[in-house]
Amino acid sequence: MVEKVRAGAGRLPPASRNRRKMNDSHPRKLIIAIDGPAGAGKSTIASRLARKLGYVNLESGAMYRALALKAIEHDLSFEDEAELVKLAQHSQIRLEPSLGGNRVQLDGRDVTLRVREDDVSQAASRVSVHPQVREWMVARQREMGLEGGIVMEGRDIGTKVFPDADVKIFLDADPVIREQRRIVQYHVRGVSAESMATELRERDRRDRTRANSPLEPAPDAIVLDSTSLSEEEVLERVEALVQEKLKPSAPNA
Ligand code: DC
Repeated sequence: MVEKVRAGAGRLPPASRNRRKMNDSHPRKLIIAIDGPAGAGKSTIASRLARKLGYVNLESGAMYRALALKAIEHDLSFEDEAELVKLAQHSQIRLEPSLGGNRVQLDGRDVTLRVREDDVSQAASRVSVHPQVREWMVARQREMGLEGGIVMEGRDIGTKVFPDADVKIFLDADPVIREQRRIVQYHVRGVSAESMATELRERDRRDRTRANSPLEPAPDAIVLDSTSLSEEEVLERVEALVQEKLKPSAPNA
């Protein structure tokens, strides 16, 4: 664990940042948004990039997953927006960036592994369609990233959470490749592999077609298709974009 970040009750800061400009010898700490569908490689790239820059990597999806898990445990309907928001307001969700990705604490309990299970993945996608749930999440995510020095990954970071992020990447890949990567990542085979692929497709469809903050690139995002790129190649391209922003002459640098 390198740093703890809490997502609890608090006020809603504005989307536009009011961060202090660093002097020339201390480059300003950027906000880097990495959005895209599941299996495109966001988490790996975000975590490696954050490590290289000495930034904090925040997996916004883990927050939706934590809320979804709590809804499952409370036997709440995923359609009940008002109850889901109430549940969120009475929850403490902590993301703890670590070498292996974010550890997730829900009300003081480590739920890192549990929130990655299939039922929670589907539930996270379902609770995330509700505008008021998203509003609560976005407010917490803005609080976490306001000071900069973060790589935040998700679905709406460049469009809604930080519309003025310094670097916006939309990482995509062919759906079949994404399914295969997930299957390899989770070491699953046979029927489990099939159901993982089905789950991914279903989630994709829901995340892309929901009315509120659907998964789509921000108009000013750089779209990177990782279908035929290695992890190293994707990282190199993303790093080049970041270095461009860190140059003293770069706009807003
Ligand atoms: O990134 P992930 O697979 O852990 O995300 C789980 C679900 O949470 C995803 O299917 C949709 C939702 N999500 C979202 O709506 N907005 C985000 N910024 C991140 C995740």
